[in-house]
Amino acid sequence: MSDNQQNQLWGGRFSESTDAFVQAFTASVGFDRRMYRQDIQGSQAHATMLAEAGVLTGEERDAIIQGLDEIRAEIEAGEFEWSVALEDVHMNIEARLTDKIGITGKKLHTGRSRNDQVATDIRLWLRDEIDLIDGEMERLMTGLLDQAEREAATIMPGFTHLQTAQPVTFGHHLLAWFEMLKRDRERLADCRKRVNRMPLGAAALAGTTYPIIRERTRELLGFDEVCENSLDAVSDRDFAIEFCALAALCVTHLSRISEELVLWTSAQFNFIDLPDRFCTGSSIMPQKKNPDVPELVRGKTGRLNGHLIALLTLMKSQPLAYNKDNQEDKEPLFDAVDTLAGCLRAFADMIPAIEPNREVMREAARRGFATATDLADYLVRKGVAFRDAHEIVGKAVALGLEKKKDLSDMSLAELRQFSDQIDDDVFEVLTLEGSVSARDHIGGTAPDQVRAAVKRGRDALR
Ligand code: ARG
Repeated sequence: MSDNQQNQLWGGRFSESTDAFVQAFTASVGFDRRMYRQDIQGSQAHATMLAEAGVLTGEERDAIIQGLDEIRAEIEAGEFEWSVALEDVHMNIEARLTDKIGITGKKLHTGRSRNDQVATDIRLWLRDEIDLIDGEMERLMTGLLDQAEREAATIMPGFTHLQTAQPVTFGHHLLAWFEMLKRDRERLADCRKRVNRMPLGAAALAGTTYPIIRERTRELLGFDEVCENSLDAVSDRDFAIEFCALAALCVTHLSRISEELVLWTSAQFNFIDLPDRFCTGSSIMPQKKNPDVPELVRGKTGRLNGHLIALLTLMKSQPLAYNKDNQEDKEPLFDAVDTLAGCLRAFADMIPAIEPNREVMREAARRGFATATDLADYLVRKGVAFRDAHEIVGKAVALGLEKKKDLSDMSLAELRQFSDQIDDDVFEVLTLEGSVSARDHIGGTAPDQVRAAVKRGRDALR
């Protein structure tokens, strides 16, 4: 970055240079240069439209478009000299264009303002990032479906209050995670609709006196609609807030998954193994293998919640139209995008690599009296009222605790002391396989239902 210098792009009415600290303090080029591609894309579309509107000549348009192409190449080759004195990405590129093509470069800004320019750039940038994030979500969801299909009949305890409740299949549990992500992906697609509207043409705040053709610029940039009101167009950052909200919610879901992975990799649960490449060791305890990836993703939730609150607070009470406050939208938004994309990528890599310890899971379900509800349902089928059945089974569990026996390990005689409605067909319902298979309706944990849900999931991803 070059030193303090008078800004040539708006210096006309100023009689002294900007204070050096103020210049550095107000500059955004350190971070908004990240949008250089979208800034150039927007400028090229604007110049094309201006030529069609008769505001620029065809020659001027061609010079601008070619100059901008060359500037993009300079930036990508690392040859572009960014200047803090030129404040932001927009003025850096425009000044370089004028260096290169002379006075024609100064005509590019006809009929627009940095206010509609920056709002357009952020939307173009976020649209590109949303499409990348969507791809990572899809990859993660596909990984979940593949695992769920493999583990459709793997039995594990299902929990409420983190206490063993009823047996479920591991595939069913994986599909619960899939559902969370399916909603996140819907929210992403919905957010994209409001991102994909074009502020360009609003100019500083009131529109412009030039005969611009907004519909043409919209078409060139692939926006679905133009923003209807110029005052709103330059000041609206709802789309960034919406993105941060869905990012916070998505990583909240990932944190819930993370928490289960952390628990399940512990020696106490030992339900799963995570391959070494997703874990790290301890510098002091040689036996340790820590589930760092899920722990870190769990921790990222705080960061994304912070960005959401930052943007909501940034917008609160802002009067129309553009205010410099809005320069503060970028760093939280950029970091929200990077953080969410990173978490999704790590998860998409890790989920297919989870190795379930099927025997351990099954044994945990067996030991936890997970089929107690099945015994109660059995008694109800024999004509016992549910409340009475609940009481009978409670007593049977108490005996099991005393004798350290699961319900399925008790003899018929032991079980019959609680109810003479119990016959030797009871053992079918007390098995773990019988229990999960009996929950055979849409949304239930039966292996066949899991397989059917995987199929529906794959259709939805297509
Ligand atoms: N760097 C500014 C931002 O990010 C660009 C728009 C500046 N507009 C202005 N009138 N100062 O918001």
